Amino acid sequence: MNDSAHRYGSVSRILHWGMVLLLTLQFLKLGDRIDEGDHWIGQTLVPTHVSIGVLLLVLVLLRLTWAVVQRGRRPQPAGPLGGLARIGHGLLYLCMLAMPLLGLAVMLGNGYGLKVFGVQLVARGGEEIPWLASLGSLHSPLAWLFLLLVLGHVAAALFHHFVVKDDTLRRMAG
Ligand code: HEM
Ligand code: HEM
Repeated sequence: MNDSAHRYGSVSRILHWGMVLLLTLQFLKLGDRIDEGDHWIGQTLVPTHVSIGVLLLVLVLLRLTWAVVQRGRRPQPAGPLGGLARIGHGLLYLCMLAMPLLGLAVMLGNGYGLKVFGVQLVARGGEEIPWLASLGSLHSPLAWLFLLLVLGHVAAALFHHFVVKDDTLRRMAG
């Protein structure tokens, strides 16, 4: 269950890969740009965006707590680019935390209310909060930066596996 110097434990791996799956669904929201949202991606997969986003907020808080509990135990990025890996992981955490918070700012700042898995937490048509709405306008640009970071992260993982041929991918994969 716990991490070790050579391997991420089951909790870290389930959180990593479970969140990869949910974050992939979240990025499909970019599909709303196809045919002004009339494409099947927007119609079938995107309506869950707010609910899954709130679930991801809960998961990232658990994951951050777990990272603190496991610090010192888990594999430490090494080699000449180890520092870059550390910064990269830190920025990925920052995006995982900021994205849902800014999503909440879009909904609440514009008075859209908040409905999570069918439960209306905040009623629609509430008062608009201009500063919160402007903060929310960072949700979309940050999504693009996050996507670039993820692509860099995946490229680094594949580089380790296929070029350097070390066990970086294996210690997270299983
Ligand atoms: C980690 C979680 C999340 C990710 C990765 C994510 C990702 C995205 C992406 C990629 C877009 C499309 C942006 C574009 O077309 O330029 C988007 C739009 C949107 N998201 Fe999220 N989102 C997340 C969480 C949330 C949450 C929790 C909410 C609401 C509570 C939310 C509300 C919205 C709204 C209203 C839009 C459309 C308006 C806009 O682009 O500003 N998102 N999101
Ligand atoms: C939404 C996409 C992703 C995010 C946000 C993400 C985030 C992270 C973070 C924050 C870490 C540091 C360990 C931790 O705290 O869990 C990590 C480790 C890792 N990730 Fe990802 N990841 C994503 C997708 C992927 C994918 C698709 C792959 C494989 C191709 C991958 C491979 C790895 C590997 C191999 C490690 C271990 C690195 C090391 O031990 O130095 N990740 N990831």
